[in-house]
Amino acid sequence: MKKFSKILLSLIIISTFLLLAGCQNRALDYEQVGEDERIVIKFSHVVSESTPKGMAARRFAQLVHDRTDGRVEVQVYPNSQLYMDGEEIDALINNHVQLVAPATAKMTEYFPELLLFDLPFIFENYSQVHRFIDSEAGQDLLKKLRSENMLTLSMWDNGFKVMTSNRPLHKPDDFLNLRFRIMPSRVLDAQFVQLGARARDLPFSDVYAALESRQVDAAENTPSNIYTKKFYLVQEHMTVSNHGYLGYLVLTNEKFWSELPDDIRIILKDTLDEVTEWEREIAQQQNTRDLQLIINTEQIEVYHLSESEKAIWKKALLPVHQMFLPQIGIELLQQIPQVD
Ligand code: LMR
Repeated sequence: MKKFSKILLSLIIISTFLLLAGCQNRALDYEQVGEDERIVIKFSHVVSESTPKGMAARRFAQLVHDRTDGRVEVQVYPNSQLYMDGEEIDALINNHVQLVAPATAKMTEYFPELLLFDLPFIFENYSQVHRFIDSEAGQDLLKKLRSENMLTLSMWDNGFKVMTSNRPLHKPDDFLNLRFRIMPSRVLDAQFVQLGARARDLPFSDVYAALESRQVDAAENTPSNIYTKKFYLVQEHMTVSNHGYLGYLVLTNEKFWSELPDDIRIILKDTLDEVTEWEREIAQQQNTRDLQLIINTEQIEVYHLSESEKAIWKKALLPVHQMFLPQIGIELLQQIPQVD
């Protein structure tokens, strides 16, 4: 009898445990449904978090989280953590990531009109770039930048490029025989060939090592990229030439985007437009600040090109504009507003 009550007690304990476990499973199942409803957006990029693009990506993620009560989670992967140049676009097309923001130069293979942004001295300042992008012609251009599973949502700034090198670069002849790292763009290649130099296309994540090991002698980039990736430690001279603009296409996977619930898509697009405005303001500030920080390090000789020297560079590089007229189209080029 004593043995029987022991067995009964054990049975009661076991069934209570199973019941509780069952409840717990149901609770887990319920949470699981919640999980399924969550929309995860992977945003991959190649630069540091403290660049204009890195900061805008983070701000976008935070605002989207707040505005959707956590239903949409934008996971930002900076510094080529997830994909590097050359991999990012395939990852987007295959929906392994849902947002990327490559430099326009890296998209010229898909959309040749973008070669316009790489033309040397085509833009003088941010305001001229913005007035072009915001014009009817600029907006029409952005709408055309879509292809199989790729859709352009916005365009973000970085800024104006400067030259870094192991020898001073004051006049066109100084470029002779130097090997420059470039982003993959035929205009950028032609720009350096025109100056008697050679160009080598390398992913952003390889630039520091390539400069350090003297695989290339020189490079062009914005102060924010040069500062955050410490390129100034592996180059001896910098010329503040502001000879070219570097901006980004914010791209999504078209199928992913079109299948989002309407309310979510609207929140994402409105937030992106707001972040684009914000990014325009901080990009300029950040590049000005990072240029000063580079100067303050005293690790690199910084030379500001004079207006007359700039005019000589412009003249030397004019043939590059002529060379790419057919690919870009004279009509589009004529839409670039005058400098204000
Ligand atoms: C570069 O490759 O130099 C830049 O495009 C990196 C970036 O995304 O700003």
